[in-house]
Amino acid sequence: MSTPATPMPPGVVDAAPRYPLTLRVNGQETHVQVEAWVTLLDLLREQLQLTGSKKGCDQGQCGACTVLVNGKRINACLTLAVMQNGRDVVTVEGLAGGDTLHPLQQAFIDHDAFQCGYCTPGQLCSAVGLIHEGEAKSAVEVRELMSGNLCRCGAYPQIVQAVTQVMGISVCAESTDRSVVVGTVPA
Ligand code: FES
Ligand code: FES
Repeated sequence: MSTPATPMPPGVVDAAPRYPLTLRVNGQETHVQVEAWVTLLDLLREQLQLTGSKKGCDQGQCGACTVLVNGKRINACLTLAVMQNGRDVVTVEGLAGGDTLHPLQQAFIDHDAFQCGYCTPGQLCSAVGLIHEGEAKSAVEVRELMSGNLCRCGAYPQIVQAVTQVMGISVCAESTDRSVVVGTVPA
């Protein structure tokens, strides 16, 4: 997949250099040209039309833009596209295998782990990364290590249930019903 450089209007000189990148996006080799300041999130959403990754805060605080780069979860709003040249990028659009949902996607449905769904693509990619990291051993640790992904609808208990189900962790072993102080983000 390649996208042509956007033509400039007549009489306007395009002074900003663009850099050719080759990425593997959701399993497909992709050639693009970007200015140096374009974030990975803007490349995905605006050039590649992969709008599943959401722009919430655009400053690394909400996790809505979480994608996987070489298998690790990152905030796509905080990294420049030119820094990812040659890397493997997976967005929420790349999680399912054809018509078969990723187990986490199915678990989110089964546990009603979303309301508006705005945070869900980031939650899913973050959960995939979390599982690959292998650090979380309990529901509490899942909650802690997913705390960079905010959910304004407050679906945290269901999200933890979905992730722990896929991980094979008993959500009852360590309760996710820790008391939450109003006005704070559960972690
Ligand atoms: S949009 Fe990237 S962390 Fe909020
Ligand atoms: S489901 Fe609405 S922000 Fe999380």
